[in-house]
Amino acid sequence: MIFCSEFKLVLLVACLESLFELSYSGLVNQNSRKYTFTLNYFEDGPVFENGPRSLKTNSSSTYIPLVYWHGMGDAGVHVKHALRFIEEQLPGVYVKSVQIGDSIADDVKSGYFRNVNDQVKQVCEEIKNDTNLRNGYNAIGLSQGGQFLRAVAQRCPNPPMINLISLGGQHQGVFGLPKCSAPKQSWCEVIDKLLTHVAYEGWVQNFLVQAEYWHDPFKQEQYVKNSVFLADINNERVKNPEYKNNLQKLRNLVLVLFDSDSIVEPKESEWFGYFKPGSDKEIVRLEDSPLYKEDWLGLKAMNEGGKLHFLSSPGDHLQFTTEWFTKNILSPFLNITS
Ligand SMILES: *[C@@H]1O[C@H](CO)[C@@H](O)[C@H](O)[C@H]1NC(C)=O
Ligand SMILES: *[C@@H]1O[C@H](CO)[C@@H](O)[C@H](O)[C@H]1NC(C)=O
Repeated sequence: MIFCSEFKLVLLVACLESLFELSYSGLVNQNSRKYTFTLNYFEDGPVFENGPRSLKTNSSSTYIPLVYWHGMGDAGVHVKHALRFIEEQLPGVYVKSVQIGDSIADDVKSGYFRNVNDQVKQVCEEIKNDTNLRNGYNAIGLSQGGQFLRAVAQRCPNPPMINLISLGGQHQGVFGLPKCSAPKQSWCEVIDKLLTHVAYEGWVQNFLVQAEYWHDPFKQEQYVKNSVFLADINNERVKNPEYKNNLQKLRNLVLVLFDSDSIVEPKESEWFGYFKPGSDKEIVRLEDSPLYKEDWLGLKAMNEGGKLHFLSSPGDHLQFTTEWFTKNILSPFLNITS
């Protein structure tokens, strides 16, 4: 077990952050190559060729506004750009793409090094402050942004989230670090070691985003007891009736799983399935889990009410075509007016 004084912790965080800075600036110079697994959404070619393009918002549009939350290694401004085809199909729709911090670099860094509970709190406040969202909004979470937006729905019911689209979100966490996309991998290796050995130590939980949804099936009890984010929003510890009540206010919860996902381990987490405690092979499906059978979050009730949708898309993590998205997500869930 690593012994960690306050001093050592400060050093470690500083070291991780500087390693991160190094790889990040290296990547920026290489023309955004780092965004391979988050920005390469579409099979039909690169989507980030000409830099972000600003899109005018049509304030007289009656489409329900959208809120996006980006994934790990990505930034709000890039997601808005990559998903611009949605705005083209919903002319004038208001879009807020979550950005944490004051710069793109900060925003990317927050995907690793800022306590998720603090991030959710901040995003709740921004949503509440945004008058364009006051009558409600649809939310699209990419990868870890999926579980973060679910936390927003459960903790901050006003203004109301109407439909939540989770694209490859890890609702039961992960056991395995997503492929590191950085060319300098040293900081990834440090994170990997932290997750494997000390994920449930308080000091790691407080600063490392991936530890906050790290779900080690061989340490189920420690996970339930110490996970500051995922075990909380999944009502594993305390059964918070507000979470259950608020989640059920959604009109639809749409869970998208990527059939050939090589990033999320196990990919079934995208549909709330997970490894059986004590195994890293056997999967327990949502319907067979206590979370569902005892209905800790209201998912059973939502499923029976036709509000829970399990969709799958062929391909790897976040690889989908605009045609697939339009047919399965945009037309049924986003093409609605207030
Ligand atoms: C704004 O949206 C409204 C309603 O969809 C539409 O009728 C109008 O043409 C749009 N205006 C512009 C400038 O795009
Ligand atoms: C929300 O609005 C309040 C009151 O105007 C302000 O103090 C606060 O900083 C805002 N919060 C965010 C996250 O924008």
